[in-house]
Amino acid sequence: MQMKPLKFGSVKIDFPVVLAPMAGYTDSAMRTLCLEQGAGAVYSELTSAEGIRRDSKKTFQVLETGKGEHPIAGHIFGRDPQAMVEAAKQVEQMGIFDWVDLNCGCPVKKVVSRGAGAALMKDLPLLGEIIEKVKAAVSLPVTVKTRIGFNNDTPNHLEIAKVVEESGADMIAVHARLAKNFHGGDPDWEKLAEMKQALKIPIIGNGGINTPEDVAHMIDATGVDGVMIGRAAIGNPWIFEEVKGCSSAFSRLMQEQPPKGGTTSPLNRRNMMVEHLKRLVKLNELKQRDSSRPHRYTPEEAACIQFRTHIPYYVKGMFDKKVLLMKLAHFLSVDAIIEEVDILVEKNS
Ligand SMILES: Cc1cc2nc3c(=O)[nH]c(=O)nc-3n(C[C@H](O)[C@H](O)[C@H](O)COP(=O)(O)O)c2cc1C
Repeated sequence: MQMKPLKFGSVKIDFPVVLAPMAGYTDSAMRTLCLEQGAGAVYSELTSAEGIRRDSKKTFQVLETGKGEHPIAGHIFGRDPQAMVEAAKQVEQMGIFDWVDLNCGCPVKKVVSRGAGAALMKDLPLLGEIIEKVKAAVSLPVTVKTRIGFNNDTPNHLEIAKVVEESGADMIAVHARLAKNFHGGDPDWEKLAEMKQALKIPIIGNGGINTPEDVAHMIDATGVDGVMIGRAAIGNPWIFEEVKGCSSAFSRLMQEQPPKGGTTSPLNRRNMMVEHLKRLVKLNELKQRDSSRPHRYTPEEAACIQFRTHIPYYVKGMFDKKVLLMKLAHFLSVDAIIEEVDILVEKNS
């Protein structure tokens, strides 16, 4: 079985294995690395509709994308239909996004306590109103990223799917966990299969993809039209390329002879870290150039601080990584990070 391109509205995702939005990780640096490694599409970082409405510069910075970053969704959250409409219009007017994605799955207290993100799964009439109004206001395709429910006492996955589709969304991406479980526990792929059966619009499945082989297993078990990878892509942008290798060998996989994944060498990981850091420095240079405020850190220092959360993923499984991770809090120069990484690479080669 080959993976077919995923189409909705004017969007065509040739290879429907996409990078999940992950606040604090999936900035332009990580997105471009994943696209270059084969990710079929990416999402902007989560952006507040109210922030866009207030024309906040900081909010717009979150939405910034690099050249050639396509296909990409502008990923927004909020609960006020008018704010969501205005934000979606601004996203469209920026001219850099291929579609508008409405967040309906974020379980973070700050978001849910305002009735936005995952809280929308508890108020389906409001979710439907937001989708309908946004859809009527923009010509870009409109999609929803949601979950299989908020908890066991609120509307279930099929009720959510029905409202999303009937309100006019062009595609739905579903994280197969309840919001109350955040990112823990086993994902429920059976619910993805039931949603796929019930829907006419395309569905992207998400949750629990740890290896390239898992992608094939999810498609086989659920029939979803595409797959979204989150945490397994942090410090591991190669996963998309590896999935591509697997997908052409899909039939082999189904005969239980899975091709090997996750074999990236320490040296390749080191080189990707250098590239990632370079891109983060550049992003921070651009940010600081566009802002008149004084900055506590130089672009390089800011990049090193942002990169700290990625390092444990890049060096996962490496022998003796403890020293590097212990020194992490003090690294403020690219050279210092790479020097320590080089020591680690040598030990692991
Ligand atoms: C650190 C982090 C930040 C996330 N931020 C967002 C977000 O901004 N918007 C969103 O829809 N989902 C967000 N998610 C959820 C992911 O998109 C994805 O649904 C989840 O991680 C499950 O996929 P995985 O098992 O492949 O990681 C985030 C997840 C993590 C771990």
